[in-house]
Amino acid sequence: MTDTASTELSFDEFDEQVNPAPEVTEFDRIVDRAISRRGFLGRGIAVGATAFVMGSTALTPIRAYAASRLGFDAVPANSDDTITVPNGYSWHIVVKWGDPLWSNAPDFDQGTRGNGASQETSFGDNTDGMALFANQGRYILAVNNEYTNRKIIYGNRETGLPENADDVRKGKAAHGVSVMEIAQTDGKWGVVVDSPFNRRITGDTPIDITGPARGHDLLKTAADPDGVRSLGTWNNCGNGRTPWGTYLACEENFNGYFSSSDENFEPTPHMKRYGVSTKDWGYAWATADERFDISKHPNESNRAGYVVEIDPMDPDSTPKKRTALGRFKHENAEVVIANNGKVVVYMGDDERGEFLYRFVSEGTYSQGGDNADLLETGTLYVAKFDDQMRGQWLELSPATTGMASQAEISIMTRQAASAVGATTMDRPEWVSANPNKPEVYCCLTNNKNRGVKPNAGGDDTSANGPNPREKNNYGQIVRWRPDGGDHTADGFDWDLFVLAGNPTVHNDAYGGSDNVTADNMFNSPDGLGFDSTGLLWIQTDGNYSNKDDFAGMGNNQMLVADPETGEIKRFMVGPNECEVTGITWSPDRKTVFIGIQHPGEKGNSHWPDGDDSVPRSAIIAITRDDGGLMG
Ligand code: FEO
Ligand code: CA
Ligand code: CA
Repeated sequence: MTDTASTELSFDEFDEQVNPAPEVTEFDRIVDRAISRRGFLGRGIAVGATAFVMGSTALTPIRAYAASRLGFDAVPANSDDTITVPNGYSWHIVVKWGDPLWSNAPDFDQGTRGNGASQETSFGDNTDGMALFANQGRYILAVNNEYTNRKIIYGNRETGLPENADDVRKGKAAHGVSVMEIAQTDGKWGVVVDSPFNRRITGDTPIDITGPARGHDLLKTAADPDGVRSLGTWNNCGNGRTPWGTYLACEENFNGYFSSSDENFEPTPHMKRYGVSTKDWGYAWATADERFDISKHPNESNRAGYVVEIDPMDPDSTPKKRTALGRFKHENAEVVIANNGKVVVYMGDDERGEFLYRFVSEGTYSQGGDNADLLETGTLYVAKFDDQMRGQWLELSPATTGMASQAEISIMTRQAASAVGATTMDRPEWVSANPNKPEVYCCLTNNKNRGVKPNAGGDDTSANGPNPREKNNYGQIVRWRPDGGDHTADGFDWDLFVLAGNPTVHNDAYGGSDNVTADNMFNSPDGLGFDSTGLLWIQTDGNYSNKDDFAGMGNNQMLVADPETGEIKRFMVGPNECEVTGITWSPDRKTVFIGIQHPGEKGNSHWPDGDDSVPRSAIIAITRDDGGLMG
């Protein structure tokens, strides 16, 4: 694989090429099992336990929704280079990539597309998870800026890649987190330029390392011999928010920013499990910042892949990496307070065949008390699902994993989960908890490798209960109910809320579950969020070709679902080649804020500025023309 080729690949394609799954593995033994299961089900098609799961659940939705809670007209699928919302709703831009957060920053330059200095004082690229915090009548929005599309951000360069140190500086500054005050003027939300709350956290911001891994040998580097303070956060995907008012930014595909100046450097098996390799994704950070060179600073990559806790109200505060929540490709972090006051955090590891996790704090939450370090100490678990619609949270400790210490488990979390036999999942993306009952949902976005090859740890990926379809190109949403309504209980019941699919193309399990129709079909559920009334908002990051298996689905979109009836309705469609990701509401629920990420990632969008402009990731606000509530 050439350097040029690596820059053309998506994150997951890259990982598979640089780090192919082991050749002789547990997977060799699963073929027999897969065959015997098909025999048991008496079916000739390779859909695993689908019939068993969908046929036996009382939760299988009914198609006639007599009393719909979804009070809007469904939006038809389309491939238009704009935002489409229901009749009676409107949208406007809140902030776009490169918009200044301070008055001394220049406006976005369509020609140069900014430089290092302008990017450090502007909204970052590729908006993702976000949360709006209300504080004495002011509104503070914390937003992840996940990554950059090289050809867009470096479209001013012939190569479409960073060519000098300032280009790299610009790239690092386009990543991280933007915190900014927003306000409504004449009905439209916008950034309060120069607000004292405005802040950019980038690939260079000092961050404290907390929890079991703090000070561990694997985290020590030349610049930080104590292993207690790292620089920067990047590839922050989904988010979380805590009841004590902090924001959680989740580090996902952190690996592709590292590379090696020594071509003969052989990454360790541990590096390989996380996709850390000698080649990066074309960001070239190591060319301007040696700590990203794994042959010189092999431990630097162990300092990424965590959940970062940020106080959005204090721009001078030092963010904290919470190693107790494990190290993997974190999607989001859904925080729930259990009946006994423990803080429970549900988290997915978004890679094919990786796992679903739960953290339970040692301390308990007290309203108005000191909750600052509740995420520093606790117990980490990984999910094991069975085909009888039951599941267990398996504790990850030295005793259960055979690993040397909790610190090691916090750094090599994937290996710990493999050691206890966790269930390989179809790329766990966002997790969201129902505010009305103890019930949790997780998007399993897709997995073309299901039943095809093992994960990077060599674990079995034959079809299983919650991941029932081989070569799963559509995705599904799994949900679980903890025993006794207790989020700290070790057992749970599970079922599938929806199997996405295309009923106009397939009449088997790939046509989707009963609540998927020609009118609401979608693929690759990713972002997920419950509103305060208990409606479930689903955002997609999938195939937008609108043909073949995906014919009739149009661009990526957002749908709203009623968890009680299973009804799903399309609420909005995004512009060309975008993904829809990140969601938060105004406290009065009259505005929903949505992230539009990577419009034009393949060169076919000029959203939102139109004409021949550079496409720009942006946050939009959607309101109702009659001033009513969302949904
Ligand atoms: Fe950044 Fe798994 O999406
Ligand atoms: Ca995502
Ligand atoms: Ca995704």
